Amino acid sequence: MGFLQGSKPLRHVEEWDEFVQRRYTPGRSEADFRHYDAQASPKIAEFYRLNHENQTLDYVLRKEKQYFGLKRGPKSVWEAAEYLNTLVDDSDPDTDVTQIEHLLQTSEAIRKDGHPRWMVLVGFLHDLGKCLCLYGEPQWGVVGDTFPVGCAWSDQVVFPQYFRENPDAEIPEYQSLCGIYEPNCGLENVHMSFGHDGYIAEVMKPYLSDEALYMLRFHSFYAWHHHDAYQHLENEKDKAMLEWVRKFSSYDLYSKGHSKPDLEQLKPYYDNLFAEFLPEKVDW
Ligand SMILES: [Fe+2]
Ligand SMILES: [Fe+2]
Repeated sequence: MGFLQGSKPLRHVEEWDEFVQRRYTPGRSEADFRHYDAQASPKIAEFYRLNHENQTLDYVLRKEKQYFGLKRGPKSVWEAAEYLNTLVDDSDPDTDVTQIEHLLQTSEAIRKDGHPRWMVLVGFLHDLGKCLCLYGEPQWGVVGDTFPVGCAWSDQVVFPQYFRENPDAEIPEYQSLCGIYEPNCGLENVHMSFGHDGYIAEVMKPYLSDEALYMLRFHSFYAWHHHDAYQHLENEKDKAMLEWVRKFSSYDLYSKGHSKPDLEQLKPYYDNLFAEFLPEKVDW
């Protein structure tokens, strides 16, 4: 079984998520963020170093070309979720939630608060793009904060000091405030660092509303939705969508630790939900 290979990346993917969750504990000040980052484990710092050094515009364009054509074949949502769950090392006795459980905890928290059905669906879908790990992509290219490439990096991105070694630092065109973009061109026209957010948004683009797609595409863009950075690239649509992205983020961050969802019992609801918005199989 290939599972053993998959089990190691999972531990890092989870660690990265947990770091983000702790970082965004409610009520933190800007000073708290810096203080907390400085105390991050060496492993977390190393992930961000690799991420920030390797996510060049050129890298992003190559990865978009490789994956955004959706040529890896059709899968139903359940098939995609089960595939993602193979990242779990089932010989591991600790009680960490599985990938499917994280998706269900997020979507169930959204459902309990009475949000529209499409948002419940987004809760379930939002991390399915982590299957990039199973396609062989490095962890630093799948998870963690995302940010625009091809323009100056904001110091509101976590660990901004690691951008110094990114080769794009040497390209003056990419280092002006707006870089290769026009001011207020809109975030949909910006190349974001490559990861699971952008990929799942591409997969779902034919089927979901702008609000839903913004939640998927930008859920790890903390510099924007948590720190108000990159307003020089925002257009009116982004401003209108921001509140939805923020609304979603709180469920992604704080639904963990709730009781374990009962997949068996919930399955009929989700069968209906998927059928309402999506065809039987979607291209990945
Ligand atoms: Fe995510
Ligand atoms: Fe998540």
